[in-house]
Amino acid sequence: MSFSNIYYKDSDLYVEECSLAEIAKDMGTPLYVYSAQTIRANFRAYSQALQNQPHLVAYSVKAASNLSILNLIREEGGGADIVSGGELSRAQAAGISPQKIVFSGVGKTTQEMAQALKAGILMFNVESVPELTVLATVAGDLGLVAKVAFRVNPDIDPKTHPYIATGFKETKFGIPISEAFDLYQKAAADPRLSVIGLDCHIGSQLTSVEPMKATAERLNLLLDKLSAGGITLKYLDIGGGLGINYHGETPPSPVEWVATMASLLAKRKELTLVLEPGRSIVGPAGLLLTRVLYDKVTPYKRFFIVDGAMNDLIRPSLYDSYHEILPVLDRQRPLSLVSVVGPVCESGDFLAKDRQMPLAEPGELLATLGAGAYGFSMSSNYNSRPRPAEVLVDGKSFKTIRTRETLADLLKGETL
Ligand code: LLP
Repeated sequence: MSFSNIYYKDSDLYVEECSLAEIAKDMGTPLYVYSAQTIRANFRAYSQALQNQPHLVAYSVKAASNLSILNLIREEGGGADIVSGGELSRAQAAGISPQKIVFSGVGKTTQEMAQALKAGILMFNVESVPELTVLATVAGDLGLVAKVAFRVNPDIDPKTHPYIATGFKETKFGIPISEAFDLYQKAAADPRLSVIGLDCHIGSQLTSVEPMKATAERLNLLLDKLSAGGITLKYLDIGGGLGINYHGETPPSPVEWVATMASLLAKRKELTLVLEPGRSIVGPAGLLLTRVLYDKVTPYKRFFIVDGAMNDLIRPSLYDSYHEILPVLDRQRPLSLVSVVGPVCESGDFLAKDRQMPLAEPGELLATLGAGAYGFSMSSNYNSRPRPAEVLVDGKSFKTIRTRETLADLLKGETL
């Protein structure tokens, strides 16, 4: 697997021009470390691929929502795909223009709708008839007009982990594509709503363009029907979902991805194409740095018990996902079959299971790669563990972008 900007220099693991051993000395572990250059490069891969057509790259905030990461996206001209009032506040705090914010999700509350309407976001990606009814009421009460796209469910198998597949008709996501036309007509007649877009997101960690091709064909048919029915749209949001290489996967590049979509949508030049990538921008840019506490050998297994756990990075436990783990100090040593586990009291607490790895001694640092997306953003305080600090490396320097939580933080808001 190749993670650009993460490499060995002599025998030390570096992110850009910073040694991870040095960073850990300063910041402690467990620690999330991100490469700003990788984030910029991954974002630019999209904006360059889309340069010949009107577009908006609305970064999916849920992947990694630190303000400094959102600020990098803003500097690159990006917008935000949000799914909660909390993500809206973050995007705004990072200075992302509300005109570049799209709001997805099946369970928007009236408070969140009002917050987003007052902020003046670009559009709501509406996922059901009852949601549309509530949105129209909230907009009407505020004397505002809600700009709307319908998220349709194309009933496509995105060929990914079932927990992150959203394009099947049986999932909770989107409006069945067969029902969309009638809903567009209904919404177009409502003065509290302005129907401006069509949206679709079929799943995450997609490693082939085929499901998106099939989706684009279905979207095209719907767009034809809508324009024949007198409904012209301004935005076509095709969601996020492009996968990354965790363990030998060969996902298309953003250029291939966008080229496929663009060719399928060639006759839609009037539409601004919106993309909502998350993982493919930040995933390869981040790692979780942990320190080995114990090398525990039983008659049956060998465990490296590290100071990072499932509360810090839940992906292996939740999706059985694979993350490459590298020693920060690269030296000649024997391999052994080990599981890398954390201190949390569950057998499901692991970062790697039964893997051939170089032996590591207590006190050594291990880097879990591909942790930039859905790493810190899915972390929790389970087992009353303070969440890790986050660091952003940019060239020769690095800065703390989130301080480590303290024991006092853990008790905040609680009473005896
Ligand atoms: N747009 C919508 C409407 C989404 O639901 C998502 C992700 C995205 C965009 C961004 O997808 P991406 O480009 O990052 O694949 N926690 C899981 C992934 C959950 C994805 C949820 N939705 C994981 O760790 O694999």
